[in-house]
Amino acid sequence: MFETYDREVLGLVPEPAAVAGLHPRLGIVGGGQLARMTAMAALRLGCDVVVLERESYSPAARLATHSLVGDWNDPGTLRALASRVDVVTLENEFVEADALRVLADGGSTVWPSPQTVGLVQDKLRQKQRLADAGLPVPRLRAVDHLDELEAAAVEFGLPLLLKARRNAYDGKGNATLRSRADFAPAWQRLGGGEGRALFVEAFCDFTAELAVIITRGQRGELAVYPVVETVQRDHVCHLVRAPAPVPKEVAARVTEVARRAVEAVGAVGSFGVELFLTRAGEVLVNELAPRVHNSGHYSLEACVCSQFENHVRAVFGWPLGSTRMVAPAAVMVNLLGAVRAPGRVKGLEQALAVPGARVHLYGKAMSGVGRKLGHVTALGSSLAEAEVLARRCARAIRFGGET
Ligand SMILES: Nc1ncnc2c1ncn2[C@@H]1O[C@H](COP(=O)(O)OP(=O)(O)O)[C@@H](O)[C@H]1O
Ligand SMILES: [Mg+2]
Repeated sequence: MFETYDREVLGLVPEPAAVAGLHPRLGIVGGGQLARMTAMAALRLGCDVVVLERESYSPAARLATHSLVGDWNDPGTLRALASRVDVVTLENEFVEADALRVLADGGSTVWPSPQTVGLVQDKLRQKQRLADAGLPVPRLRAVDHLDELEAAAVEFGLPLLLKARRNAYDGKGNATLRSRADFAPAWQRLGGGEGRALFVEAFCDFTAELAVIITRGQRGELAVYPVVETVQRDHVCHLVRAPAPVPKEVAARVTEVARRAVEAVGAVGSFGVELFLTRAGEVLVNELAPRVHNSGHYSLEACVCSQFENHVRAVFGWPLGSTRMVAPAAVMVNLLGAVRAPGRVKGLEQALAVPGARVHLYGKAMSGVGRKLGHVTALGSSLAEAEVLARRCARAIRFGGET
């Protein structure tokens, strides 16, 4: 593990000792765009931010007060982070919950709690907990051997989703089994052959994917954001419409399910709840994220208090802010890479010329196929108006070698 302290590295004036410990200090495990936007919210509230990432160059380390480079599953490295901050939080669910538990047992403040992280980071345990709490989830079950897929296909029918229990994102831990010929290749691709724990889930014939961000405070108080519609392309979030164009009655049901879901896992902080709306009008929970979530980026411009600021408020035990939208509609479009190349941005000037659209670039060193490199958000008096602006703005931007 090593640490970087940019002001010292640059030979500028180091922070005087008197300043140490003066401001609330937030530690974030992970240094990607979610940590970066959380750090921005924390900095605005006068906090210092310490980021722990595996690489020395990361979106959040570029603006953190202090950054540590090392393995976040190593207890010593996590302790080094905890010793420099008042609260440790995370931007992804890949850190070992057991390592976080060691920190909490040693007296550090960790939110969300290691118990919650452990429960949510295993998608199978997470969904079983939700089902036990009476919440609607797709039918699912663990599969320990390739030959158990046959029985699952008979029980749930085809197509069928095969999913990794842990460390999956942007569809990378999922395979859709459409016929028996898909079983063995999918099993191998997801690492079932190497002992990675997998489960199967009934295919959901949804008419829309919905999401809700809920921030839950340490005393159980809630800040509930509007229900949004998310549109995925190749299993990666592409566009978000806020509020979701669904009847009030559906939005109310979705909000209630999402609220019960975050309560069932003992959430503290901002959590993303992903849901399916089925053809029959049923609402199912797809999954929870124990952190700020892509479907809530619109809240930066569209809500009184963003999911990032509310996360910071929750983990410090401060009052939560209003989730009210400040415009009738907002649309967010992700800026995804198309080729593997240095992450140089082209077309920013054209994008900035689109009136009312806000551009967020994460400053990643490398572009890659489907990699999230930024997003744009546009507000409007209607979803249609906001969507035209957001799409026009997003179309202008290219990364790396894209033409
Ligand atoms: N049971 C399912 N039925 C149909 N589509 C699904 C199902 N599970 C996941 N998907 C599709 O794949 C996307 C990514 O799956 P998800 O389980 O949310 O994994 P990730 O961790 O990659 O977000 C979902 O947003 C949805 O579009
Ligand atoms: Mg998902």
